[in-house]
Amino acid sequence: MNLPTDLAATRRDVLVGTAAAVATTSSASRLAAQTPTETGAASLGSVILPVSFEVNGAQRELNLDARTTLLDALRENLRMNGTKKGCDHGQCGACTVLVEGRRINSCLTLAVMHQGERITTIEGLGTPADMHPMQAAFVRHDGFQCGYCTPGQICSAVGVLDEIKAGIPSQVSADLTALPEGSQAEIRERMSGNICRCGAYSNIVDAITEVSGRKA
Ligand code: FES
Ligand code: FES
Repeated sequence: MNLPTDLAATRRDVLVGTAAAVATTSSASRLAAQTPTETGAASLGSVILPVSFEVNGAQRELNLDARTTLLDALRENLRMNGTKKGCDHGQCGACTVLVEGRRINSCLTLAVMHQGERITTIEGLGTPADMHPMQAAFVRHDGFQCGYCTPGQICSAVGVLDEIKAGIPSQVSADLTALPEGSQAEIRERMSGNICRCGAYSNIVDAITEVSGRKA
């Protein structure tokens, strides 16, 4: 087909034009999405709520944006930075704390969901002068290298042994009605949500095994 000269755009002209249009549209929408926070204006839809819970035995009262995660409330508002932020997406376990004695990823839960609850972080398990048996076992067995994952590993390990004691089965429990054995396979499976980039896994399992009363 013969086109008039001004309509005879090459394929390259069309692609260049389309890319420019996409770039313009996406930067415009990005700008629209970011403007309220980047200019420091109050974020749209923010709701401040009072939150009251017990952290490591002390009653804490906070007024928080309802969207604040438990992890950020602990680290940013209460300045307790023992609990670590790794992925902030529930994938690494670095942020594990105990809530009412059960381990959870604090980056995946909102602080306001824990009104009146009892939260234990690594700072509440023990101190350098008076360590929790799990902390002491991690030291004895060299269960850490950089140590970034360690607070979450230790909180998780304490939760794991309580789960086993309570008879809660795992994916590798052979008999769902019997008390779980606390074997190394059980410990590895239950600790699989806690990632250690340094790879101190075998020493971590030894430490947990020792605290469980089995031979490491
Ligand atoms: S920071 Fe919560 S799971 Fe990684
Ligand atoms: S000790 Fe470094 S990530 Fe586990």
